[in-house]
Amino acid sequence: MNVREFCPADLVEVFALVERTFTERYYPQSLMDLHRSWPEGFMVIEDEGRILGMIAGIMINHLQARVMLLGVRQGYQGRGLGSLLMEHFEALCHQEGMMMVSLEVRATSTRVIDFYWRIGYQVMDVIPCYYQNGDGAYVMKRMLQLNI
Ligand SMILES: CC(C)(COP(=O)(O)OP(=O)(O)OC[C@H]1O[C@@H](n2cnc3c(N)ncnc32)[C@H](O)[C@@H]1OP(=O)(O)O)[C@@H](O)C(=O)NCCC(=O)NCCS
Repeated sequence: MNVREFCPADLVEVFALVERTFTERYYPQSLMDLHRSWPEGFMVIEDEGRILGMIAGIMINHLQARVMLLGVRQGYQGRGLGSLLMEHFEALCHQEGMMMVSLEVRATSTRVIDFYWRIGYQVMDVIPCYYQNGDGAYVMKRMLQLNI
């Protein structure tokens, strides 16, 4: 199992994963735009050459990053891969001198909210009608420890 930076050759596989994992619709170009905005902040986890999960974030400013997409291939969820991707992403943010990571999560996705809660994220805000189907979002944030 290896976490590494996304590269353009991964696009087809990562786009297929995104299509199958998320309710929202994305375009391959949106993934490339995310990669261009912060290449190191777009990571994949692979096993024997197969991509099992991905995370992509943006730098909001020099102190704060936001997770835009986190997805683990169906059939591999619940095995710690999502937590591992978050750990790598947070380590990168810490290395860049950032203090906080934020993200939005569908307000109806109790299990995903639990996942983020367990790894230290707290609900700080609510955004009504955030998703394409009208669902609201919780904004969750975590302060990074100075010693991680
Ligand atoms: C949410 C997600 C990234 C978590 O990654 P993961 O590798 O499954 O999570 P981990 O194995 O590190 O942690 C397991 C915990 O995640 C939570 N979880 C959320 N959705 C889950 C799912 N579909 N399957 C298993 N666990 C899930 C649970 O709290 C679980 O703990 P539990 O087994 O005690 O219930 C992953 O399940 C996923 O890709 N879900 C679909 C896409 C999505 O909703 N992404 C988040 C967008 S903000």
